[in-house]
Amino acid sequence: MSDSAFHYVDGVLHAEGVSAASLAEQFGTPLYVYSRDALTQAYRAYADACAGRNATVHVAVKANSNLAVLNVFARMGAGFDIVSSGELARVIAAGGRAEHTVFSGVGKSAAEMREGLEAGVKCFNVESIPELHALNEVAKSLGKKAPVSLRVNPDVDAKTHPYISTGLKSNKFGVAFSDARATYAQAQAMDHLDVVGIDCHIGSQITEISPYLDALDKLLELVGQIEADGMRIRHIDVGGGLGITYDDETPPAIGDFVTTLLDHIGKRGHGAREVYFEPGRSLVGNAGVLLTRVEYLKPGEEKNFAIVDAAMNDLARPAMYEAFHRIVPVVKRDAAAQTYDVVGPVCESGDWLGRDRELALVPGDLLAICSAGAYGFVMSSNYNTRPRSAEIMVDGERARLVREREEVKQLFAGESILPD
Ligand code: LLP
Repeated sequence: MSDSAFHYVDGVLHAEGVSAASLAEQFGTPLYVYSRDALTQAYRAYADACAGRNATVHVAVKANSNLAVLNVFARMGAGFDIVSSGELARVIAAGGRAEHTVFSGVGKSAAEMREGLEAGVKCFNVESIPELHALNEVAKSLGKKAPVSLRVNPDVDAKTHPYISTGLKSNKFGVAFSDARATYAQAQAMDHLDVVGIDCHIGSQITEISPYLDALDKLLELVGQIEADGMRIRHIDVGGGLGITYDDETPPAIGDFVTTLLDHIGKRGHGAREVYFEPGRSLVGNAGVLLTRVEYLKPGEEKNFAIVDAAMNDLARPAMYEAFHRIVPVVKRDAAAQTYDVVGPVCESGDWLGRDRELALVPGDLLAICSAGAYGFVMSSNYNTRPRSAEIMVDGERARLVREREEVKQLFAGESILPD
């Protein structure tokens, strides 16, 4: 988690100027807490490195789509990267602009394409020939030309978890590198498409720069070929994926990452093209924590369990990817630590949040699950008919409720029973 935004004051964890214990008291647990300052700092690191360099930041909405979070970025002039018309609606509701938004995703429906075109999105990142045809048809029906870039799969190993690696031949994403030139030629031949760029996204939680440089080299080679075929590639979208520190990972700093990529593109003679970045996790991941309360301590022969009130439905990453999140006490306690598995109340063995953690605990204690700002709340569900948690944004000394906790009755409000 961001050390400047989340820190201890007299043994009590604070989010900026607000005690996490008081937040849990006031708003209950489980509770997502975000720091405006941490969001701002991460965005500035991108924006500062892009300044004066014909490069723009498109916040990947999927990582955290809370309106208040998106609004913090929109106020700073961010563009957005969306993968559904639902995310487009959020961007607009949060004060973002369609003309600064790129529409990604492997399975856009015709209805979503229509909404994107009507809103005037900046570019569609298209992933297959059938999708090109579909977009051409939708654009024709609206009497428009759709701006497109092809997501090319550069077949590089991003050296990350297989579920979040996307740039290999074996992944469902993008147009195969070997087919890309011919696919661009097809796009060019369609009357209602306007080829404007090239795109890739090789994975997420990437902690090294070299896979990006390998991918860029392949993309730039392709740009030369496509332009020889008579198209003009105005922008290069390098995707998102920069990793964060959850435990002891040492990803490049945001500014160094941006500068290295832009310099690499410049050195290869492509500096005049606009470069798009699509970061998600590196903007929001360490700007959020999930607060949870210990319900029961359950000692066992092989394991001690700390059963907490957050579960896999609140934070799915450990269950889905065996992801590691640091877990720290909200109030430090001077007592001997024991080794616990921190688990939730959901009826699945996969419902764990941390394994073999050294903690000094008594029932009722509060814990903070760190680095939960990205792919946390957005991936939460109502499994076991558990209402989704509230979300708070801290700004200096103030804390604001930016999403109300769900109530049980909302969870089945749209359901009905058979009449007879
Ligand atoms: N652009 C595209 C086209 C993407 O598919 C993604 C993420 C991003 C940008 C943002 O990537 P980031 O900077 O956040 O790495 N649920 C997983 C991560 C899935 C990432 C999906 N795509 C997790 O919790 O680790």
